[in-house]
Amino acid sequence: MTNMTRRRVLLRAAGLGIASALPSWSTAQEPLIAKPIPRSGELLPAVGLGTASVFDVGNDPARLAALAQVVRELVAGGGSVIDTASSYGTAESVVGQLVAQAGLRSKVFIATKLEQPDAAELRESLRRLRTDRVDLLQLHNVSDAGQSLAPFRQWQADGLCRYVGITSTFRRDYAAVEAVLRKEKPDFLQIDYSVDNRAAEARLLPLAAETRTAVLTALPFGRGRLFRSVRGKALPEWAQEFDARTWAQFFLKFLLGHPAVTAVIPGTGDADHMKDNLGAMRGRLPDAAQRRRMVDYLQSL
Ligand SMILES: NC(=O)c1ccc[n+]([C@@H]2O[C@H](COP(=O)([O-])OP(=O)(O)OC[C@H]3O[C@@H](n4cnc5c(N)ncnc54)[C@H](OP(=O)(O)O)[C@@H]3O)[C@@H](O)[C@H]2O)c1
Repeated sequence: MTNMTRRRVLLRAAGLGIASALPSWSTAQEPLIAKPIPRSGELLPAVGLGTASVFDVGNDPARLAALAQVVRELVAGGGSVIDTASSYGTAESVVGQLVAQAGLRSKVFIATKLEQPDAAELRESLRRLRTDRVDLLQLHNVSDAGQSLAPFRQWQADGLCRYVGITSTFRRDYAAVEAVLRKEKPDFLQIDYSVDNRAAEARLLPLAAETRTAVLTALPFGRGRLFRSVRGKALPEWAQEFDARTWAQFFLKFLLGHPAVTAVIPGTGDADHMKDNLGAMRGRLPDAAQRRRMVDYLQSL
């Protein structure tokens, strides 16, 4: 791609509120989709990696080797977000070990979560992750409208995290999430959202847009449920209209086509799946009408 073409792509994408990050290695390919974090304008590659359960492997050498390959694929493919939590068993330690061994700390955006604003637990998380500062610190599973992010903001001011956020994957807690989002205006919201689980569309995604809160979507495949629902079914031909070549890309592009969604964090322990998922960062995204068609199509199966 010439510099001029590259500039045109960037300008066109910026007009859509989406920008294309163009690392030097990507010049021979289509540009990658990256979206701005509203609070800072920093571009975040739109496909990341979730580590719940898949990274809870302890010291198992074969599984560690497979996960090392997943992390390498993530970065080689232009991704950077790795989402983990202090409560995911050994996942934080595994992420810390693999990122340090590969020398990739400066290339990844590490998001972790605390159950409570507990300074001792934060120190433990930083130790396990082998870093002085995480990129995003999230208050995990918000369930009470009165929860405060004040300690997280203090840690942000102290340089222990770059952004603060909240998470939930429980419909019964959405009212509390809404209240905290409105009151605390976190930098990030992480919420469960998938083509067959769209409750977040009603109030939380519009509110996140209003509070200029970036959105990470947890459970983008419904813990694999979506793959089971299309087993043996071919992708519809019109998926080409938004450059989805696999079901994984179809499911992820559905999410990235929502203007409030910043990045998706599918979980995988398989390097080929990681590569497949990263493919959703290339080409076009579905517009509102195409997204409605995607929902209708899956409901018709
Ligand atoms: N409250 C919260 O904050 C909260 C709660 C839940 C989850 N989360 C976050 O959301 C992330 C994602 O959730 P999740 O991992 O539970 O579920 P998920 O991303 O919806 O689905 C993961 C499943 O999809 C499979 N998969 C991934 N890529 C695939 C591909 N290209 N083709 C076929 N299968 C594929 C994985 O198997 P393979 O390993 O074989 O690829 C795994 O079985 C978590 O890791 C976590 O970071 C946050």
